[in-house]
Amino acid sequence: MARVTIEHLTKQFKDVKAVDDLSLEIPEGSFVTLLGPSGCGKSTTLYCIAGLEDATGGEIYFDDVRVTELSPKDRDAALVFQDYALYPHMNVQDNLAFALKMRRTSKSETKQRVQQVAEVLGLERLLQRRPSQLSGGQRQRVALGRALIRDANVFLMDEPLSNLDALLRFNTRTEIKRLQRELGTTTIFVTHDQEEAMVLSDRIAIMSEGKLQQYSSPKETYNRPANRFVAGFIGSPRMNFLDGEFGIENEAAILRGRATIEIPGEAARRIAADRGGAVVAGVRPEHIRLSPGASGGIPGVVELLEPVGPVTYVDFTIAGSPLRASVPASTMLEPGESVGVSFEPDQFHFFDKVTGARIDVA
Ligand SMILES: Nc1ncnc2c1ncn2[C@@H]1O[C@H](COP(=O)(O)OP(=O)(O)O)[C@@H](O)[C@H]1O
Ligand SMILES: [Mg+2]
Repeated sequence: MARVTIEHLTKQFKDVKAVDDLSLEIPEGSFVTLLGPSGCGKSTTLYCIAGLEDATGGEIYFDDVRVTELSPKDRDAALVFQDYALYPHMNVQDNLAFALKMRRTSKSETKQRVQQVAEVLGLERLLQRRPSQLSGGQRQRVALGRALIRDANVFLMDEPLSNLDALLRFNTRTEIKRLQRELGTTTIFVTHDQEEAMVLSDRIAIMSEGKLQQYSSPKETYNRPANRFVAGFIGSPRMNFLDGEFGIENEAAILRGRATIEIPGEAARRIAADRGGAVVAGVRPEHIRLSPGASGGIPGVVELLEPVGPVTYVDFTIAGSPLRASVPASTMLEPGESVGVSFEPDQFHFFDKVTGARIDVA
């Protein structure tokens, strides 16, 4: 297994800069996810690491070896794609053994490796079946096995779960995580699904329009999004954003937007006092409390309820501004009802209105 270092990687297609000055260090044995919306350059980055695309600029290293211009074969990265094409005319055993056969591995070693991988992935009883005789999840496990059977330098996975139905995606996700922990493989995983990234990763690299936005642990990404883009991308339901002029009134932080609201907490007070002016304030749905009846808090009106089991998502308005809260399912609310809205102290995030950059207490 190798450490992967990416330095100022750029990939230009005719008129599109698919990857723009990307630098990342992926420690040996860690699980790193490239996350971002469709078209942000995730796959292109992965293909540059694998050697399937040539970089326009920048360098890639596996440990201390510069691989930027090496052929895919000499880099020895194992790839798993979204449409995990298996050889349809070969059974599972031969599909698994294929890469070893190409490398002229001995029969006895091949047999042993196939057994080992089949055992790890629970494929022992399927070895004689053809891909058409397998379920989607089983096929995906064979595709993983084909990658795992080689002692590759790094595992690259491009949205390997997106063709599976919800339950299977959930189970296979757990399986991938377990395997990676067990085998200690350096893994770079691509997805547009923020939940998948949160669950699987040691660190998440969030990209937008070819540029790296933040590279940090799932917890850090969630708790301290580096900018408004990350704040809006991580978390479901997404963060609420309120625009306004930020200032101090009666020693409290006040945001004057469509509605005027007091923002509780010491951090808000200090930022308002130090800086003030135009900001975007963000608060996650789970940090909003709604009390039935209009007494106490900021007056709001319930619009729509979406029960999702343990919690209910509530669309409501303050002075006509739409917001979303996530409240315990036991909270009794009705559409059209007046509510008192309050915010948990020190749970607001602040962003520069122009650049979108996070604003912290000085
Ligand atoms: N071979 C190509 N030729 C031209 N443009 C491409 C090519 N491959 C990708 N792109 C463009 O590069 C950008 C990033 O694509 P991609 O890396 O596939 O994004 P993602 O995997 O994040 O969805 C997109 O705008 C895409 O249209
Ligand atoms: Mg892609």
